[in-house]
Amino acid sequence: MKKKLNVGIIGYGFMGRTHSNAYRRVVNFFDVPYEPVLQVICGLEADKAKAFADQWGYKSHTTDWRKVIEDKTIDVVDICVPNNVHAEIAIAAAKAGKAIVCEKPLALNGAQGKEMVDAVEKAGVANLVSFNYRRVPAVTLAKQLIDEGRLGKIFHYRANFLQDWTISAKVPQGGMATWRLDVKAAGSGVTGDLLAHCIDTAMWHNGPITTVCAMTETFVKERMNVDTGKVEPVGIDDACTFLCRFDNGSLGNFESTRYARGHKALYTFEINGEHASIGWDLQDLHRLNYFDHRDESIVRGWRSIHVTDSDMPYMGKWWVPGLQIGFEHTFVHQTADFLENLAKGKPTSPTFREALATQYVCDAVLTSAKNQKWETVKKR
Ligand SMILES: NC(=O)c1ccc[n+]([C@@H]2O[C@H](COP(=O)([O-])OP(=O)(O)OC[C@H]3O[C@@H](n4cnc5c(N)ncnc54)[C@H](O)[C@@H]3O)[C@@H](O)[C@H]2O)c1
Repeated sequence: MKKKLNVGIIGYGFMGRTHSNAYRRVVNFFDVPYEPVLQVICGLEADKAKAFADQWGYKSHTTDWRKVIEDKTIDVVDICVPNNVHAEIAIAAAKAGKAIVCEKPLALNGAQGKEMVDAVEKAGVANLVSFNYRRVPAVTLAKQLIDEGRLGKIFHYRANFLQDWTISAKVPQGGMATWRLDVKAAGSGVTGDLLAHCIDTAMWHNGPITTVCAMTETFVKERMNVDTGKVEPVGIDDACTFLCRFDNGSLGNFESTRYARGHKALYTFEINGEHASIGWDLQDLHRLNYFDHRDESIVRGWRSIHVTDSDMPYMGKWWVPGLQIGFEHTFVHQTADFLENLAKGKPTSPTFREALATQYVCDAVLTSAKNQKWETVKKR
């Protein structure tokens, strides 16, 4: 019999679903030391919380996140709410001694993120930030190939995250559907929402980013705010491009926008090293492109590795070689790793402290764009 672990998820939206799915499925595919129990779901609207509880098999629901924290039976508080609510919930959960999973970005900014790091470290509670793309098997395999030294010295890291859903000036800001466009709820635009993913993966692959030089643009300057009913200035960055230097001497080049017509979620990266290069594309997520200059010249070329064999990261837990998995499985993987480490008293990456490093890069990017000069990234 596995020890039961009672989970309270705050937020029944997009991420509330991916996390609920992960807690439900993880025991079926991974030999984890705990059996997660979906104890309570929390969200702003009672009828929606109840419907979610019924659909996903939660024992109870509430509209008050404080009730989740006060509930002595809850072991894990899982934060799936807009960015401006992360800190308050996480700090209260840490004080109550709960293990915490928090969606990305960690906070609205570095100063707030630091308070969250201090709270979890003072309380000594397990903590994880949901930068889930690390746990796409092909992205994890890229990390393995880099750590094995196959690329040699790394020269370049470039990443893009492109979308096209805010081009119309009629898309409002604020409210529950479009909180990402309201700077008070989101903290920033594409920098914290999309580039944070790219930055987390890049620093995991290639080490710390030390300096940045950025430009941002807000293409639509005013939008209706559904919370106030007034047309208000837009405070988020619609697009961001930045150059950076990594601590290991390599150069970085990152771009994100919600104005790339035709792209819904094009997250790609390419890494160029002395001996080899790696490329990956979220829309072909089970493939890792690899070029090795050491191959015999007559067969040398880019190869497309189908990351489905059982000796590839996480894949031995799923189907048979040749069959693929997708986006939702990244959350199952992070849950499996979290439960495994929780039982051993070990941290799971990225911890709040590791996510703070990403937050500091985001801060430096936004400051650089504002000041139009290179900025040094604060050390975590
Ligand atoms: N890892 C990823 O790939 C990924 C993808 C999308 C979103 N996210 C992150 O997940 C978080 C949530 O995003 P989402 O897309 O799921 O949002 P969403 O709008 O789909 O859902 C937000 C939920 O939060 C609830 N909520 C809001 N304020 C609350 C409060 N004060 N108390 C209780 N509940 C409250 C709402 O009722 C809703 O259920 C954000 O931080 C976002 O950046 C991560």
